[in-house]
Amino acid sequence: MRVIKAALLGFGTVGQGVYEAVRTHREQLKEKLHAEVEIAAVLIKNPRKKRNIDSSVLVTTDFREVLAIPGLEVVFEAIIGEEPGFSYCLQAIEKGCHVITANKVMFARYGNVLLEKAKEKGVFVGYEATTAGGIPVIRTISQQLQVNDIQRVQAILNGTSNFVLSAMREKHLPFEEALEIARQHGYAEADPGNDVKGQDAFCKLMILSRLVFGTQPDWEKVEVEGIGGLSLADIERADRQGLRYKHIADIYRDGGTLKASVKPVLVPPEHALYAVEGVNNAITIYGSLIGKITLTGPGAGKFPTASAMIEDFAAGYRPVPQLDAVS
Ligand SMILES: NC(=O)c1ccc[n+]([C@@H]2O[C@H](COP(=O)([O-])OP(=O)(O)OC[C@H]3O[C@@H](n4cnc5c(N)ncnc54)[C@H](OP(=O)(O)O)[C@@H]3O)[C@@H](O)[C@H]2O)c1
Repeated sequence: MRVIKAALLGFGTVGQGVYEAVRTHREQLKEKLHAEVEIAAVLIKNPRKKRNIDSSVLVTTDFREVLAIPGLEVVFEAIIGEEPGFSYCLQAIEKGCHVITANKVMFARYGNVLLEKAKEKGVFVGYEATTAGGIPVIRTISQQLQVNDIQRVQAILNGTSNFVLSAMREKHLPFEEALEIARQHGYAEADPGNDVKGQDAFCKLMILSRLVFGTQPDWEKVEVEGIGGLSLADIERADRQGLRYKHIADIYRDGGTLKASVKPVLVPPEHALYAVEGVNNAITIYGSLIGKITLTGPGAGKFPTASAMIEDFAAGYRPVPQLDAVS
């Protein structure tokens, strides 16, 4: 049977999820792709960390060793920040590898460069995992809403912020205590700044913007505000009025310009995002034909994120069948 050789960049929460998913779903991958998937290399930063990786896999801190693997076809990128993630993805594409990334900070800024280069080289770039974790929003928009004119996207894109807002309201906790619970559950990073200050949701919104509108607004003009300014009193007052604060990333076309914001918004019960609680994410899409649809689900975590990457991988190798082929 044919073997597809893949490399993993990063072996943290997401990288380990992909590694395990390839093993636990070996049979499903075989059946769908008619091929064995082999993780041939894992790139890490700290060579002293103990890891549960098969001895047949090359574990290295040197990306050149990864690229030198004969017959390498796919690179899963799950490291942190714009660099070196961007350079590694670009080099992989230039070498003719498909790339699947979870790195939203990198992809928000450099996604268009990678997609252009991939087109030139005849390979695919999967980025479902960058936005809303396990929710298939990228594929829904790019494959199922091709004719609809999408006028607006409103979304809850940061699970930590949503969890904190839910905990403050439901358990009557001040912000810091709710954040501490998010940390204890492993939802918030040790430094949750990117989450609760809105930057994480901003990056995801910029990725959606490029997909939906073909461009991004001027980053400097996007209003970005986290949830740190909300007090328990604010949340309880809203609750008494039947309203809820939700941290909403919003983008729409206003005449010739794109207007975008990421900030806490007071929403009534009839709003599509009112009932989204805990670590979940949700995306409401307003289309010219479909009207309003909302996708909800796990926005982060080891296996939801790995799921998005593995599905990107499988879809890249096995394009969606045409309707006449399945009827
Ligand atoms: N966690 C989630 O639920 C989630 C969801 C969606 C998207 N993402 C995105 O996925 C990416 C990975 O997230 P994570 O949660 O898995 O992070 P993580 O647990 O902190 O793991 C990061 C991994 O990247 C490696 N790494 C960092 N810098 C590197 C470098 N310069 N060269 C080589 N390896 C490097 C680290 O190596 P060491 O092990 O040696 O330290 C570690 O294995 C991030 O871009 C994140 O935004 C995460």
